[in-house]
Amino acid sequence: MNLVFGSDHAGYDLKQHLLQYAQSKGYTCLDVGTETAADACSYVDYGVKAAQVVHKGEADLGIIACGTGIGISIAANKSPGIRCALCTNEYMARMARQHNNANMLALGGRVIGFRLAESILDAFLAQSFETGGRHQKRVDELNRLQPGD
Ligand code: RB5
Repeated sequence: MNLVFGSDHAGYDLKQHLLQYAQSKGYTCLDVGTETAADACSYVDYGVKAAQVVHKGEADLGIIACGTGIGISIAANKSPGIRCALCTNEYMARMARQHNNANMLALGGRVIGFRLAESILDAFLAQSFETGGRHQKRVDELNRLQPGD
């Protein structure tokens, strides 16, 4: 499975940690930046960059981080075909995959620690969507939404 990682400066340390963690588990990982925690940058740029990689099918899932995870998840969700879930625990991560067919996970680098983030990532990657069930209809509805609806 291919993963893409992105963050702003406030999510940089968590992104780097999770990228190395995922690589150690055998995932192929692409990093769209940012490259340092020292220079402030826009979470919008990196949320969109990572989302575009997922949208183009160049990664199966995206993992993104900013300070809270909020801004970067909003940015990613503006991209077509993206269902990005901001998760603060393993249950949310499991449900995001199982019920919402989330294809991106957003985390807050200033909100959760590395160990919890690893567990959330594990839960997200281990779970798959319940295809054909009642959740399919709702995900189809999400996918049909157009700006202004
Ligand atoms: C950066 O200071 C911070 O605002 C950003 O990382 C994020 O938390 C926004 O949602």
